This record gives sequence, C-alpha cells and structure tokens, in this order.
Amino acid sequence: MIDNNVFRDVSYGLYIISTKYQERNVGCVINTLSQVTSENPVISFSVNKNNYTNEAIKATNKFGISIISEKIKEEVIYQFGYHSSRDVKKFANCTYEEVNGIPVVTEGMCSYLICELIQTVDCGTHDIFIGKVISSKKLSQEKEMTYRYYHEVIKAVAPKNAPTYIEEKNDEKGATESDNNSNRTKKDDEDIIEDSNETKTGNAISKEEAGRAKTKENEHETSGVFEKYRCIICGYVYDEAVEKVKFTDLPADWKCPRCGVGKENFAKVVE
Ligand SMILES: Cc1cc2nc3c(=O)[nH]c(=O)nc-3n(C[C@H](O)[C@H](O)[C@H](O)COP(=O)(O)O)c2cc1C
Repeated sequence: MIDNNVFRDVSYGLYIISTKYQERNVGCVINTLSQVTSENPVISFSVNKNNYTNEAIKATNKFGISIISEKIKEEVIYQFGYHSSRDVKKFANCTYEEVNGIPVVTEGMCSYLICELIQTVDCGTHDIFIGKVISSKKLSQEKEMTYRYYHEVIKAVAPKNAPTYIEEKNDEKGATESDNNSNRTKKDDEDIIEDSNETKTGNAISKEEAGRAKTKENEHETSGVFEKYRCIICGYVYDEAVEKVKFTDLPADWKCPRCGVGKENFAKVVE
C-alpha cells in the first residue's frame, strides 16, 4: 500500500522553465528541480509529457530556469502554472530577459540559470530532463519560494500535470448542486477545510453578471447564509459573502479566475 500523504514530506522549491520554440517564448512552472553535481554543475527536473514545454525542450535542447522568490506576483505563477503556451502568450504580462536566445523570467525571481540538455529519461507520464548549466545570474536577495510556502501562505495547490499532484476528493460538485445547505460534502483531506479562510475578490464576475443575479443576491443576504466553494484544481476560494452572488447563480460558463476551469471543479467548503 502506498500512502500518498507521505509525499507531502518531500520538500521542493518553485521555478519557471523556459525556452524559445518555433519563434515563440514558452515555459511552465515546475517544482521538481534538483542540483545533481556541483563541479561542472548539472541539474535535473521532471516535466509531464502533455506539457507544451516538454515538447519545446526536446526540440530546442536548451532552456532557462528562473528561481521563484516569495516576492513574485501570484498571477505570474498562475499564468505559467495553470495555462498552456499552446493557448496563451505567457510572457506578455511579465518582465523577462533574453539570454543566448532563451527568454528567462526576471520579475519576482531570485536568480536564473541557462542550461543545455544532456539527457532525457523516460519515466512514463513524465520525462526527467538533465541539463548542464552554462551560465547563471543572481537577480535579487529575496527568499526563494518553497512548495510548502506556496501551499500554506499563498494557499494554492499544484495542478494534475505536476508530478507531486495529490488528488483532492470532490464528491459535491458546485455546478451540479442545487440549493442545499446540508453537510453533504464528504472530505478526506482536512487541509481543504483549513484552507477555506482564504478569500480572493478580484474580477471573479463582471458587473453585468452581478446585476443579473441581484434579486437572488438580496434573497440570499436576507437569509444570511453564505457558502464558500473551493476550486479543486488550484485552491481558489469563491466566497459568497464577499462576491455577493450565490455560487449556484453564477452563469454556466463562469470560470475560475485563477486557473480557468469551470464550476464543476468546485466543491463546497464545510466549516
Ligand atoms: C506549483 C506548481 C508546480 C508544478 N510543478 C510541475 C512540475 O514539476 N512538472 C510539470 O510537468 N508540471 C508542473 N506544474 C504544472 C505545469 O506548470 C502546468 O501543467 C502548465 O500549464 C504547463 O504549461 P505548458 O503546456 O505551456 O508547458 C506545476 C504547476 C504548479 C502551479
């Protein structure tokens, strides 16, 4: 028997791997980097075979690694960690440098490395890339962000393509729920409840959508019952008390403002 919770005891940092592929700047967040040797430094990390960055690194054989600091704008992690370069221009909203033809994100980073691919190891769903470091630059004195910090301070989780992904149970799907205030959410992971204090406002819904839901909102306020719904993909919490619109009244095509998935990926938080 394998207890997946044991893997939570393994510690990591957070990084953005990047390269230029078919004239486009591409890259993604990874947490699996490790230093393999110090003399003629060699590093390794694993990337899911479905990630566009995997295809790009195999084609270009060179890449940059930006070491994420605690001062990074969260949006940069969400852009690089939950979306694919197949669909979005990830570098459009962040500061980066081009080094030896490789784009490296510099904003909110401790430092970066430029590497050449020396070996790829097939591990089933993921490949391990092994690279020789050819140059590096220190960018700031900020503290490097750890995976634990990402979970506990930012209160976000890694998506399915991350090798360290641990599935969260979601028996009560937000979108399919009608009004029901009973405690039907069955939950195996206490962390989910602990995380529920997080509240993000931002552009979760447009003013127009909010207007359409106005009547329901008034009814809801009168009843004084506010729920929270948590995205099982990224950890974003939709708080009805803040948004003033009931989760079940959001339009069917509403998307998680952090990672872009639909309502069906939200589970009611039980407090
Ligand atoms: C905190 C965090 C850690 C991640 N770690 C990894 C990783 O080590 N390896 C990996 O393949 N994907 C990892 N991912 C997922 C990729 O960043 C994500 O699938 C991304 O959308 C891939 O983009 P791409 O298709 O442009 O390559 C991580 C994501 C986050 C948010």
